[in-house]
Amino acid sequence: MLWRNEESGASIALIKFEKGVGIPNAHAHASNQFMYCLSGQYRYIPTGTTLVAGSFYCNPVGSVHGPTVADETTVFLEIYDGPHYPVQPPWYTDASDAQ
Ligand SMILES: [Fe+2]
Repeated sequence: MLWRNEESGASIALIKFEKGVGIPNAHAHASNQFMYCLSGQYRYIPTGTTLVAGSFYCNPVGSVHGPTVADETTVFLEIYDGPHYPVQPPWYTDASDAQ
């Protein structure tokens, strides 16, 4: 985590997905999510949208996306302009990981 506003829930983070790892469920966010891919290859399975180094992607608030998979170990700069999720997703066991 590089920066977080505890009041709004907005954050900026570096996030790494090891090869073969992803988000298991379709889901939506409670704010706009912006992702800039620094390295690797990451795919939205239903659409085939694939992010590689230099890709910029936005999931607007409320838009359903995923599941996803990292075809290669992938690092993103990830920015949320508010809280990440409307409710804690089932793939997190620790509430702090979902923020
Ligand atoms: Fe997402």
